[in-house]
Amino acid sequence: MINAKRIEEDLNKLARIGRIDSNNGLTRLAYSKEETKAHDYVKKVLKALSLETKVDSFGNLHGRMEGNGMPIIIGSHLDTVKNGGRYDGSAGIVSGLEVIRCIKESKIKFKHPVELIVFRGEESRRFGKPSLGSRLLTGLISKNDLDRLKDNDTTLRKAIRDCGIHLGSSTLNSAKAYLELHIEQGDILDKKKIQIGIVTGIASSVRYKITVYGRKGHSGTTPMNSRRDAVDGASEMILAREKILMAEHKKGRATVATVGIINVPSGSINVISGKVEFYLDLRDIDIKNRDETEKLILKTFDRIAKKRKLQLKYGLLERTMPVELKRDVQGLIENSCKKLKIKHIFMPSGASHDAIYFSYKGIPTGMIFVPSKNGISHAPEEFTELKDIATGAEVLLETVMQLNQK
Ligand code: GLV
Ligand code: MN
Ligand code: MN
Repeated sequence: MINAKRIEEDLNKLARIGRIDSNNGLTRLAYSKEETKAHDYVKKVLKALSLETKVDSFGNLHGRMEGNGMPIIIGSHLDTVKNGGRYDGSAGIVSGLEVIRCIKESKIKFKHPVELIVFRGEESRRFGKPSLGSRLLTGLISKNDLDRLKDNDTTLRKAIRDCGIHLGSSTLNSAKAYLELHIEQGDILDKKKIQIGIVTGIASSVRYKITVYGRKGHSGTTPMNSRRDAVDGASEMILAREKILMAEHKKGRATVATVGIINVPSGSINVISGKVEFYLDLRDIDIKNRDETEKLILKTFDRIAKKRKLQLKYGLLERTMPVELKRDVQGLIENSCKKLKIKHIFMPSGASHDAIYFSYKGIPTGMIFVPSKNGISHAPEEFTELKDIATGAEVLLETVMQLNQK
C-alpha cells in the first residue's frame, strides 16, 4: 500500500537541498553541487532498500530491482529552474521510490526489473536545452552540444566533469516501458477537481537566441528621431510576438511563445543600447501550427528590424518534435484509474518532460499527471497536495504491476 507519510518525508528532505530563497523558492540547477546532493539523498534511500545503484556516465542515478528481461523504467528529475518550486520533477522521483518500497514489501517476485532513473539537468536554465541527462543517455543529443552549450563560460562538458563524472557513450536503447509521474503545471485538473491526467502527447519547442544590433549613443544628446536603439527594437519585437500569439489563441490554437530572458550586455542608464539579446521559446503540440507561427514571428521581427535600421542574428538553440504517447500505455493507466476508482481525464502536456526522449526511441511511454494548485509552476508557489501525489503513486504502482504481467 502506498504510504503518503513516506512520500512526504522524502519530499521534505529534498525540499531542504539546494538554495532556498527568501520567498521560499528552491534553486537546484543542472549539474550543480546541489543537484548532486539531491541525487545522493535518493541514492541513500535506494541503498537502504537494498537496490543495486549506479551513476551512469552522464551523472544520471539508476536504482534497479532485479528481474529478467527488459526493465520497466520509472523516471523524472531533481533539478529545478532558478527560484522554482519543490514538486516539478521531485514528485515523480518520490513516487517512484514509494512504488519500489511497496513492491519490495509485497514480496511479489517481479518478472521484469523495475528501474528508477533520476535524470540530470531536465530544466533549461543553465544550458538553454532541456533534458540533458535523458538525451545523453538515449543518444538523442548532438555530441557537439557538449562544447557548444554554455552557461556563461562553462561548457556542458566542463559542468559534467566538474561533478566528477567521466563522460561515456549513450547506452539506453530499449526498455519494456517508461513511466513518469509529474505535476501537471497547468490548472486543468485543479479546476475540474480531477485527480489524474493521462497524458496523450507532449508539446515541444523551437528556441532561438536573438541578438538585436543597433547603434550605441548618448542618452542625453541624441534626438529621439535619430536613434537606432536596440532596446526599443527588441521591445517592439517582444510585444509583436504577444500580439501574434493572442491572435492565434483567438483562433482556438494552443501555440504559446515566451521571452524569459532579456540581456543588455553593456547596458547603462545613460546609454542608448547597441546590442540586446533575448531568448524565444515557442511551443505547440501541433507541429504545423507551431511552425506557421514561427515563420510569422520571424517575418515580423525582420520587418521591425528593417524599419528601425537594426540588424538581427538568429541562433537556433532547439527544435524538437512533439510526440503522441502510445495508446496502449494510456490504456493501462486508464485501467489502473478505473480499478482504483480514481477520477481521470486524458490531456496533452504543454510542458516538456524526459518522457519525450523515451518515446522518440520507440519505447512504450506513459505519463501520469497530478494536479497543480492554481496551475502555478516554475515558481516558489508551486504546490500539489500530498494526497494527490499519493493517488498518483497508487496509479503508478498499479500500472507497473500491469506492465509486469505483459
Ligand atoms: C520544463 O519544465 C519545460 O517544459 O521547459
Ligand atoms: Mn519537470
Ligand atoms: Mn520544469
